[in-house]
Amino acid sequence: MQTPSRNRAVVATTSGPVDVLTDVELDVPTPGPRDLLVDVRAVSVNPVDVKLRGGALPGDGGPQVLGYDAAGVVLAVGEEVTAFTVGDEVYYAGSIARPGSNQQVQLVDERVAGHKPTSLDFAEAAALPLTTITAWETLFERWRLSADSTGTLLVMGAAGGVGSILVQLARQLTGLTVIAAVGRPESREWISGLGAHHVVDRNDLLAQVAEIAPRGVDLVFSPFSAGMVDTYTQVMAVGGSVVAIDEPEGVDTLPLKWKSQGWHWEFMFSRVLHDPESTAHRELLDEVARLVDAGTLRTTLGTRLSPIDAATLQEAHRQLESSATIGKVVLAAE
Ligand SMILES: NC(=O)c1ccc[n+]([C@@H]2O[C@H](COP(=O)([O-])OP(=O)(O)OC[C@H]3O[C@@H](n4cnc5c(N)ncnc54)[C@H](OP(=O)(O)O)[C@@H]3O)[C@@H](O)[C@H]2O)c1
Repeated sequence: MQTPSRNRAVVATTSGPVDVLTDVELDVPTPGPRDLLVDVRAVSVNPVDVKLRGGALPGDGGPQVLGYDAAGVVLAVGEEVTAFTVGDEVYYAGSIARPGSNQQVQLVDERVAGHKPTSLDFAEAAALPLTTITAWETLFERWRLSADSTGTLLVMGAAGGVGSILVQLARQLTGLTVIAAVGRPESREWISGLGAHHVVDRNDLLAQVAEIAPRGVDLVFSPFSAGMVDTYTQVMAVGGSVVAIDEPEGVDTLPLKWKSQGWHWEFMFSRVLHDPESTAHRELLDEVARLVDAGTLRTTLGTRLSPIDAATLQEAHRQLESSATIGKVVLAAE
């Protein structure tokens, strides 16, 4: 496989509505010592892409290549790379501090890339990295759960990108009873196939959860936290714990005190930004690839679009803006 002479990319020319996403040609970047140069075959779109494009572009606010999730093939490696060779198939969420995956060829540090599951195509693999790292760190690092863990877990936003993999990980790798909360019949249908023990209507949450866990649940996963603290206090048992992953403005967690409940944050780029030597994301993605190939986990791809260009990315961002997508929206190169 040849490295192209030019690099087709989509940039956000500035912060703004979806039409700031524009097709351009960039130089092909040169790998640093620990970098892989990847031929990007598929990318998935995350709410963070939409938030950055809509108002919080990193850096100087100038043209930026967005997108974090990708799956592709290694075209070249830096001189200190040890874990990959040319031709390897990889999948990764990369770093929020570097140019993203919405380009034909991309640099990614070998410490945050995993070997792609062999049983998935590129689009199916690109659905997974960012949300899976988030879900894994929530369960096994923030809550320190294990195969021996029991109790009840309520997963809000269960049919979303993160919820769809967190439900699977919790069901397959812990002893928890998993309660998935959804709002629409199509979300219920989707999540029922991913292993939740119970599915409840998020618009009738307290009554439906009380029937399953009369003393309250032990854990709540919260991807949509605005205005939810009082509800979580009520739905959780004494000593319960929330992990939240979004950015609810001005959240006040004091009401949790009266039932000795906890509130943790999870941000999947924390390690990349503050512990760049860590290989934890590579190890995590390699383990997830093994679990996928063993049939324990499945892809969360919900919608497949193509090709990877500005028009298709604009459509994907529009879909994400609705907060009504099921699973992941993925763009395949062809
Ligand atoms: N901290 C991190 O590292 C990290 C990582 C990934 C994502 N995030 C953040 O987490 C949030 C969710 O991400 P995601 O990718 O899972 O989202 P997503 O895929 O856009 O979630 C969409 C799903 O959420 C449900 N939903 C919509 N509004 C809801 C609400 N108010 N309450 C509960 N469920 C609702 C919808 O189904 P129903 O209406 O049928 O229920 C839909 O299926 C975003 O803010 C994202 O930026 C943070």
